Amino acid sequence: MSFGIKLEAVTVEFDGHIALSGINLELTAKSVAIIGANGSGKSTFARLLNGLVKPTSGKLSVLGKSPTVSEVGFVFSNPDLQIVMPTVFEDVAFSLTGKKLSKDEVRSRVEAALGAVGILELQESNCHTLSSGQKQLLAIASAMVREPKVLVADEPTTLLDLPNTKHISNILHELPVQQLVLVTHDLDLAATCHEVVWFDRGVIRKSGNPKSTIAEYRKSFD
Ligand SMILES: Nc1ncnc2c1ncn2[C@@H]1O[C@H](COP(=O)(O)OP(=O)(O)OP(=O)(O)O)[C@@H](O)[C@H]1O
Ligand SMILES: [Mg+2]
Repeated sequence: MSFGIKLEAVTVEFDGHIALSGINLELTAKSVAIIGANGSGKSTFARLLNGLVKPTSGKLSVLGKSPTVSEVGFVFSNPDLQIVMPTVFEDVAFSLTGKKLSKDEVRSRVEAALGAVGILELQESNCHTLSSGQKQLLAIASAMVREPKVLVADEPTTLLDLPNTKHISNILHELPVQQLVLVTHDLDLAATCHEVVWFDRGVIRKSGNPKSTIAEYRKSFD
């Protein structure tokens, strides 16, 4: 089985501006945090992983092939932008559109996804009545219902208070995925991952052990 994320000399350029420059990286850890200053290329990297952004040059593979939206799930920081249907059940089911599943299959997949994030009892609720934390769980369920092997979350806790941040962190780490990639400015959250990658102005400044990478990142502000 192919495993992990591999980038070979990947450069991403937007209208002459280089967002990522010659990135070589191999990630096999079960969970990986991506840290770095605003504009350092974290979201560009995250979007490369599910094919939303294509490398301008270089090679990229996720689980041994070019990334596809069906194998790599994505969660954004603002769940309001991901909600498309009136109720929680319908919203998660919407992610299965085009999968040609029976009604029963849809129901069991949606219930499993809502159960995995702990909001099954909210399935008939109106999405817009949910709290920010519950909306973020809904966004994770909508990504998970497609049963992705890799989940990428771009600042999934930015809008949340500390208890909800911890709750989302626990849920994310327990999801049945091969690999979790977590972009975050929250260094406590980053420290919950097995590996940390620090992006700095489009290049990797350091990657590896969470403790030493985060310590060095903090030190760079002294
Ligand atoms: N679609 C785009 N078109 C043009 N420039 C872009 C695009 N996406 C990103 N950029 C530029 O690429 C650079 C890296 O942006 P990116 O969003 O990856 O940073 P980031 O590390 O996620 O920052 P933040 O912490 O603020 O979210 C920035 O200079 C940004 O303006
Ligand atoms: Mg970003």
